[in-house]
Amino acid sequence: MAKDSLTITDNRTGKTYEILIELEAIRAMDLRQIKVSEQDFGLMSYDPAFTNTAACKSAITFIDGDQGVLRYRGYPIEQLAEQSTFLEVAYLIVKGALPTPARLKEFVHHITTHTILHENTKMFIDGFHYDAHPMGILVSTVGALSTFYPDAKKIFDAESRKVQMHRLIAKMPTLAAFAYRHSIGMPYAYPDNDLSYTGNFLNMMLKKTELKYRPNPVLERALDVLFILHADHEQNCSANAMRSVGSSQVDPFSAVAAATAALYGPLHGGANEAAVRMLTAIGSVRNVPGYIKRVKAGEIRLQGFGHRVYKNYDPRAKIIKRIADEVFEVTGKSPLIEIALELERIALGDDYFISHRLYPNVDFYSGIIYQAMGFPLDMFPVLFAIGRTPGWLAQWQEMLLDPETRIARPRQLYIGSGPRDYVPVTRRGDHAEGAMTSTNEVAAPPLRP
Ligand code: CMC
Repeated sequence: MAKDSLTITDNRTGKTYEILIELEAIRAMDLRQIKVSEQDFGLMSYDPAFTNTAACKSAITFIDGDQGVLRYRGYPIEQLAEQSTFLEVAYLIVKGALPTPARLKEFVHHITTHTILHENTKMFIDGFHYDAHPMGILVSTVGALSTFYPDAKKIFDAESRKVQMHRLIAKMPTLAAFAYRHSIGMPYAYPDNDLSYTGNFLNMMLKKTELKYRPNPVLERALDVLFILHADHEQNCSANAMRSVGSSQVDPFSAVAAATAALYGPLHGGANEAAVRMLTAIGSVRNVPGYIKRVKAGEIRLQGFGHRVYKNYDPRAKIIKRIADEVFEVTGKSPLIEIALELERIALGDDYFISHRLYPNVDFYSGIIYQAMGFPLDMFPVLFAIGRTPGWLAQWQEMLLDPETRIARPRQLYIGSGPRDYVPVTRRGDHAEGAMTSTNEVAAPPLRP
């Protein structure tokens, strides 16, 4: 019997099976041999939210949630946030290694020269209602880009993949800024290739009538670091959407539209907005103890606290807290920061939060910074999408090149009706047997935040 193996006894039959353990996991398909009879389909595993299922092998991002560790391609997030730039990190994430100076220059040149959108893109952004949510515009327009680049269908051509990745990393900020300008009725500001990636994004967002926009270097660096912190986070909801949709071999623009849609949800890219709304509603430091009391009573949740994976301080939150001070030097102090600090102080010393292992996550402080920099709440998930694009692309490419990849197609445990005969419509009563009684419709529980 191999040492790295698991012995399973099926108590239904008394049979014993030996299953190999590789990378501290067993293969779900190895369970299929466990049957009660020859005709039996075989045992499956049930894991509706993938809480204990690895869907791929990946060499991109490492997280140790117990220790509060995050690394991209082996490099600690703290070092990257301190010393690198977003485009260098994008290169690292997508290509697997830090670039040489020549490679970095070439990469920055490619991204910079792909920032312009086809003029027709403006026409359909113009078609959105004046108060359209910029995230809705982003989902639609990034998907629409696939129609401008039919060559993007050549997903197994390395050169084509490279060009599409440059286009996507380059054009996401332009789409995002255009969506914002449309929502406030301002003319679109075109990319300025003299500026850095993040400086140019600020230019497209904020330029008014000046001939040349000059970003504040502190805010430019702060936003660049925020993009670094969001660049990848292994198999989160949107990365999983990117891989799953991409596994159908669709072009990367369509797959990024799917990933952006996943990020749009309040449980994923919307939590920083919820945190700012919560701090605004608390209103003052003296209301904090009362709020904590309600959280402990289970009435509400502390937004920006807790994480499925981190059971320790989210390392990104530590870095963001430092950036906040630098940003406030320029913008003036946000009144929300005092409330946030007081919430954190009380929570970290409180038994409820200690025993539940609840710490601030990336969203606790990021929203306050975005708001101080002048971004409206609606733009928060859009900023997240810009930062996360290299991660999505790296996950997509890794999935395509993995020899084990097949179209993503989970199994189900069927709990519906057994076979029954069709009844013509004229012979069905209002309460025909089984009508509208699927388990979901009858017993759907309220969604947990
Ligand atoms: N405030 C108060 N109690 C909490 C909180 C919170 N923020 N988060 C979890 N708990 C409690 C929860 O009530 C439960 O307690 P009990 O076991 O006594 O019933 C326990 O902790 C476990 O909670 P869970 O909902 O089973 O944990 P989860 O891993 O499914 O959820 C989470 C993770 C992030 C959705 C959750 O912590 C939460 O709702 N946080 C607030 C929203 C938020 O900040 N989201 C941003 C996530 S980071 C950005 C990203 O990755 O997209």
